[in-house]
Amino acid sequence: MQRPRSYLGRFCHAPERGRVECLEDTLVSVDEDGRIVSVLRPSDDGYNRAMTEGPVESMPRGAYVLPGFCDLHVHAPQWPQIGKALHVPLEVWLQQHTFPLEARYSDLAFAKTAYTGLVDDLLSNGTTTALYFATIHQEATRLLADICLDKGQRALIGKVVMDNPEQCPDIYRDESTDDALRGTEDFIAYVRGLNNDRIKPVVTPRFIPSCTDAALDGLGELARSCRCHIQTHASESDWQHRYVFQRHGRSDTDSLDRFGLLTRHTVLAHGNFLSLGNMEILAARGSGVAHCPLSNAYFSNAVFPLKRALEKGVRVGLGSDISGGPSSFLPDSIRAAVFASRLLDDGVDCEKDYPERGIRDSRIDWRTAFYLATLGGADVLDLPVGAFEVGRQFDAILIDPNARGGSLNLMDGYDSTEDGLQKILYTANKANITRVWVAGRAVV
Ligand code: GUN
Ligand code: FE
Repeated sequence: MQRPRSYLGRFCHAPERGRVECLEDTLVSVDEDGRIVSVLRPSDDGYNRAMTEGPVESMPRGAYVLPGFCDLHVHAPQWPQIGKALHVPLEVWLQQHTFPLEARYSDLAFAKTAYTGLVDDLLSNGTTTALYFATIHQEATRLLADICLDKGQRALIGKVVMDNPEQCPDIYRDESTDDALRGTEDFIAYVRGLNNDRIKPVVTPRFIPSCTDAALDGLGELARSCRCHIQTHASESDWQHRYVFQRHGRSDTDSLDRFGLLTRHTVLAHGNFLSLGNMEILAARGSGVAHCPLSNAYFSNAVFPLKRALEKGVRVGLGSDISGGPSSFLPDSIRAAVFASRLLDDGVDCEKDYPERGIRDSRIDWRTAFYLATLGGADVLDLPVGAFEVGRQFDAILIDPNARGGSLNLMDGYDSTEDGLQKILYTANKANITRVWVAGRAVV
């Protein structure tokens, strides 16, 4: 067995919601499987032994090591569309822009160029774990899994199911329900055949409108038998929310539950229109929500009631929702999550003479947003990452305030370590991320 490799420096994380912890002069030791075997301060027993036992790498002066970001909602094929078509309603955006783009992934050369660019971009942005929607295509979705494996990203990937001819165009639809189900099963087998814990398959009904009831039924059954993660969109926009009520006579939370699609391994994207009753069901099933504040603003004119959901015991992480959200840099979603919560808390209805302000007690602070982007997301996925604790995997990013092209402005003698962390989360840019590790391996 190889001796553990150790990293010496300043480590900051959010070990629980609302609380951050900064560990100075700390030695984090990682074994050959990427597992953290010790986290030692200079005053701890074993520190001196660990300093001499294996290779020790000192982080640059003034640098911060943070857990890697966990992006709970990424549409991998939409990466080329980031920053485009943000002005149209969701249903128009899907039909006119997004489905035609996704249809192009029948072309493997196109898929290879886009997926390689995406995974490189996300890793250099510090996203060490991503939960991906791919497309309906078998070959291109396998290619995404291969690329994540090759580049070292932790990834959960779903072949998207879209078999409903009423909502999906001829150019972009599974050939039949059977085909959609078999395609999902084949993809699960392919990923499991890769024999690597870092890559997992996900049962992925795009959303209720794109799927027939037969497909939803079959996917619920399949998720149960394969014990896979499940991802879908729910309660996202007025149109989508109304559509499910009209088709099924109930909310999409209730509907997904009837199809067996709400489990401990389910991640629902958005959730803007969740009722308190819906939240109770999610909490009871152990299902999580990917909070996507950027795309909720552009496509739903809505704010996910994050604080209420957390208070109800729903597990929540953050999602960029590329390309509904026009940024692949998860700190932009951290910033938007705080911003959106403030608008929900303080928004004013100007039609009233004495306007009541927003929904009281809805705001979160940067500590909670940081938690959601790291340990919160890891918790939703039940992955042992997201914090510097013995037994977790070392998925981490190095933030160098002095990096060339960086945007951080920290001042010795003025900023405390925690001030520095806050400034990182609000003002750092991609250039400040100078190294990225997944499972103890440097990937950037
Ligand atoms: N609902 C169904 N598909 C999508 C998608 O690609 N993006 C978003 N934001 N919502 C969706
Ligand atoms: Fe989405």
